[in-house]
Amino acid sequence: MADTQRVFFALWPDYATRLNMQRVFKQSPQSRQEGRKFLLQNLHLTLHYIGQVGQTKLDCLHRAAKTLHGESFQLSLDHFGAFTRARVFWSGPSIVPTALKQLHTGLGEALAGCDYRVEARTFTPHVTLMRKVRCEQSSLIQHEPVIWKVDQFALVESVSVTGGVEYRPLAFYGLNVS
Ligand code: 2AM
Repeated sequence: MADTQRVFFALWPDYATRLNMQRVFKQSPQSRQEGRKFLLQNLHLTLHYIGQVGQTKLDCLHRAAKTLHGESFQLSLDHFGAFTRARVFWSGPSIVPTALKQLHTGLGEALAGCDYRVEARTFTPHVTLMRKVRCEQSSLIQHEPVIWKVDQFALVESVSVTGGVEYRPLAFYGLNVS
């Protein structure tokens, strides 16, 4: 579609956290199976997937995100899980910090002013590690925790490139350090 961009809001890890995520992923049996592994630079945790938008809506989303004054928090990614039907293998936190729930809810409410409707399904925070996997079971497997200090979130563009997709942050929004 001309003059539109595919975008989403996400937590965007720093480089050291990405490396930790990748290192832990390589310890999983899943990493040795067939599937499409996420590139190091593409790892993220989706807050709200928006989809294809034009400039006016993009401006609205950016303005809405700027109004958020959430709190920073620490996330401990400590287990692997799978969405078997979607064939997605991921890592997530056992404990979802209140500040993350508030950020997800608050951002969803702010984006409603830009004609965005929050997905009805429960928010399951996760970092996708692999797609197109054959997951026999969705049961959770503990792993060495990856500690992630979250002090911002991002508006990210998803760009199709030869052989895959590239995620490019368009803007960052700071969270208050308590
Ligand atoms: P994920 O959160 O399970 O990894 C960019 O496409 C990101 O938005 C991906 O991380 C993707 O899945 C998430 N996402 C959520 N809903 C989506 C949808 N309907 N289409 C594409 N991506 C979606």
